[in-house]
Amino acid sequence: MFISFEGIDCCGKTTQVKLLTEQLTEKSIDYLLLREPGGTIISEEIRTILLDAKNKNMTQITELLLFSASRAQLVSEVIKPALQKNSLVLCDRYVDSTTVYQGYGRGLTLGAVKTINRVATFDVKPDKTFFLDITVKEMESRQALSNVKKDRMELNNDEFYSRVREGYLEVANEEPERFVVIDGKQSIETIREIIWKEVEGMLPIKY
Ligand code: TYD
Repeated sequence: MFISFEGIDCCGKTTQVKLLTEQLTEKSIDYLLLREPGGTIISEEIRTILLDAKNKNMTQITELLLFSASRAQLVSEVIKPALQKNSLVLCDRYVDSTTVYQGYGRGLTLGAVKTINRVATFDVKPDKTFFLDITVKEMESRQALSNVKKDRMELNNDEFYSRVREGYLEVANEEPERFVVIDGKQSIETIREIIWKEVEGMLPIKY
């Protein structure tokens, strides 16, 4: 089973992924946790290039191809073999991030982005995707509270993030079976419960 987590920066997905893994561990359910870009030696090296704020000259196509290259390596080296063994795979960001950040955000042709996505994922799709939805304003007020240095992607402006958010809402709307849209302004505990209820319902054995 393959589950991904999506949302604009500061939406709280990393916190929720952590809470889910704690709950799975408590119930002795094995899982494999991955994050994108990253998850293999090659993908982590690509991540460094992608997020380095010094790489201001990166073209949009280079960015698209690097995120996709990182993913292609992760899918063939880790995700596909894990799913073949029926493992539970959790991924903090996956292909929808490319559709919305590079497609909607950067404005690259959606048809081309989707074709590259299919190549990079070998058509491996999540069974369920949790989209934690917050407004761009909310993202900014959360960013103002943290003093972590911004990476290259986080240096984008409001309009970029508004397009990314709209993109998420559209892709979620296109695949209502796969997406669970969650209001990210709810309490951490409420969101944790929503996610756990969904995941529990998907597990082959009931706990
Ligand atoms: P990361 O530090 O992992 O951020 P987050 O905690 O928000 O997931 O950085 C990943 C950044 O890369 C994030 O800004 C989203 C962006 N991204 C894309 O633009 N396209 C992609 O395909 C992926 C996977 C991430």
